[in-house]
Amino acid sequence: MPGDKSISHRALIVGAMGKGEMLISGLSPAGDVSSSRAAVDALGVSTMNSHVKIEGLEGSTQGSDLQILLNSVGVAAWRTPDDQIDVGNSGTTIRLFLGALAGSSATAQLTGDGSIRRRPMGRVVKPLQAMGASIIGDDGGDHAPLRVAGTRLHGVDHALPVASAQVKSALLLAGLLADGETSIEEPAQSRDHTERLLRYLGVPIASSGNRLSVKSTNIQNASVTIPGDISSAAFLLVAAALLSGSDVAIEGVGINPTRTGVLEILRSFGARVDIADVREESGEPVGTIRVRPGDHRPLEIGGDLVVASMDELPLVAVLGTAAEGVTVVRDAQELRVKESDRIAAIVEGLRLMGASIEGTPDGFSVDGPVRLRGAVVDAAGDHRIAMALAIAALTAEGETTITGWDSVGISYPGFEQDLEQLVVR
Ligand code: S3P
Repeated sequence: MPGDKSISHRALIVGAMGKGEMLISGLSPAGDVSSSRAAVDALGVSTMNSHVKIEGLEGSTQGSDLQILLNSVGVAAWRTPDDQIDVGNSGTTIRLFLGALAGSSATAQLTGDGSIRRRPMGRVVKPLQAMGASIIGDDGGDHAPLRVAGTRLHGVDHALPVASAQVKSALLLAGLLADGETSIEEPAQSRDHTERLLRYLGVPIASSGNRLSVKSTNIQNASVTIPGDISSAAFLLVAAALLSGSDVAIEGVGINPTRTGVLEILRSFGARVDIADVREESGEPVGTIRVRPGDHRPLEIGGDLVVASMDELPLVAVLGTAAEGVTVVRDAQELRVKESDRIAAIVEGLRLMGASIEGTPDGFSVDGPVRLRGAVVDAAGDHRIAMALAIAALTAEGETTITGWDSVGISYPGFEQDLEQLVVR
């Protein structure tokens, strides 16, 4: 798998805030991560490329490992970029940089594509403003473009109304630059990659339940190895669970429990899921995930499992078309404010393929099993919808055409080639 996208963003941003060299191995080739890298470069932090061949994988799309040598003099020396920073499609880039820039020495205007400019930013701008941040936008800061001028921050005690790793991380990064203590409490535990990376670099973070506290700390950089991306692996694993006779094992994938909801879902569906070769890399658990098909049981998903499988929920709709009974996802209203309205997009795509699926305000329900048929469907410009529809297409009779396919490069360049290698016609 390509390197984990979430962790790759964090390595670049935390490395740029820290002092000294950070050799990042296995950086994700995702378009979103290039946006973070371009932002780091624009702030005057040097990043240099080197590709290292991985033995035994020479023929594959992932046969070379993207290694980056980042070298920073620290966030206090970031320079004001000449132009605005364009984060493209990347919510993690804009939200984490808002936190880091708020207490930096730089001033920057952050903007992005149409999807980014529609997504809610108030959830991160407002708590940062409560810390003293200077962030301005046309509508009170709820949408990009946003202008942030680094200034002196003070700690706050903030309770997040929705579990969000992007908001939590922005506040944690700002908290490292603020006077006094910054505490953050979440209603459920979102992915904890920022905390793990900071702790790996020696930053003290106090925690109890879903509450975290940090104080002003300098980051000393060290080498970081990025695990394979479980959210990208999920497409291949779900395909393996759906297509009889499959047997897919993926090595070196991140199995951080805040991200493995999809494995629990696959087990509930009836697939055989085995984990082996578990080890730790730069504070993150990594292992080999093997999936083989089994029963096709309907799924009921809500509560904390939604947070641990948020980016994989479009795939649950695909599983639902094959399950014998009604599959329901609830408590997932956040899907409506991702790169697209993912509830609307997956419902529309699968319906055109013949699924019996209804959207609800906070999820969807699918009545299965239904033999899907090929159709012309639209990814809504959203990488995860494009790939979920491709997996649905593998189970469908006839040919499917997916418009908006280019978006796949946002998280998983090489997806088509990897899938092609696994599919037997
Ligand atoms: C991400 C967190 C999640 C996830 C997104 C990436 C991150 O969003 O959906 O794709 O890298 O922190 P939330 O901020 O809603 O948790």
